[in-house]
Amino acid sequence: MANTKLTIRRPDDWHVHLRDGAMLQAVAPYTARQFARAIVMPNLSPPVTSIDAARAYRERIVAATGPGFTPLMVAYLTDWIDGAMLAEGHAAGVFTAAKLYPAHATTGSAHGVTDVAHIRAALEAMQRAGMPLLVHGEVTDPDVDVFDREAVFIGRTLAALVRDFPGLKVVFEHITTEEAAQFVAAQGNNVAATITPQHLHINRNAMLVGGIRPHAYCLPVAKREKHRLALRKAATSGSAKFFLGTDTAPHRVETKESACGCAGIFNAPFALESYVTVFDQEGALDRFEAFASENGPRFYGLPLNEGTITLERNAVQVPERYAHADISLVPFHAGETLDWCFVG
Ligand code: DOR
Ligand code: ZN
Repeated sequence: MANTKLTIRRPDDWHVHLRDGAMLQAVAPYTARQFARAIVMPNLSPPVTSIDAARAYRERIVAATGPGFTPLMVAYLTDWIDGAMLAEGHAAGVFTAAKLYPAHATTGSAHGVTDVAHIRAALEAMQRAGMPLLVHGEVTDPDVDVFDREAVFIGRTLAALVRDFPGLKVVFEHITTEEAAQFVAAQGNNVAATITPQHLHINRNAMLVGGIRPHAYCLPVAKREKHRLALRKAATSGSAKFFLGTDTAPHRVETKESACGCAGIFNAPFALESYVTVFDQEGALDRFEAFASENGPRFYGLPLNEGTITLERNAVQVPERYAHADISLVPFHAGETLDWCFVG
């Protein structure tokens, strides 16, 4: 069969949750095994809102992964965040970017922003500093259906933000809708998006047909099939605006399989295998390297990685579970066979 091996420049993951403590020890090595760098989400408890906290968290991550992996730290925006502190942290090489969580939109967002009006000075400072804004793009209005929250966010918040800060780099994180893909494609080069493996593989049926499946639940939630197809098209289009960001978000199995299960899919162990399977199915293997290894660093203004990794078209079985001491995790694709394996 053609293309049995694919060697690409070493990739990065532009959106991960590495957690802290024992969970950090358990999960960080999976990301470090496949990726050279990762943008590390700051939604810890308490969230990462200061330069010192980001420095200390970065040290804990490096201790968990060992050398060869570079965590890129992110400041968590609150209504009270100080723009000068963000710019100082960016200039000092501590904060690569800052994350906007609308308050109560998702896990660990209780301290998030209640209204973008509160962070205008911070956004001005970020725009001046060339510091990217990462956006969890969902409204939290209880009157808006959970499946519409991303599309509504574009009209209510994101379009005005992009208009008012035309020089600000904005990453619309983990997009899940055709509307989001179209919005990003229509903006200038300062607006980009990350796309997760799960939103390329599953639609909302995976969560709800034949029983409720908590391990397919994340936020933003998977949408209808037409949105999945639009995301596959965007990811494999060759546009430099779309790049890899897994949003790997591990939760202990008992907190997923619960009457009120946590949002988040643990996809780190087979992230590249999952993505490359999609590019193969779409006949776009020649576009995988740009999506995984080039578009992200170019958008962030960072150097491309040296070195390569190789993927091979060879069946690989995904384990049902990972156990690390008392932490039990169910990965994305648990029990499935993927057509590609990561050689290293
Ligand atoms: O599914 C999600 N899980 N979405 C998020 O935005 C947060 C994440 C988490 O931290 O668990
Ligand atoms: Zn996330």
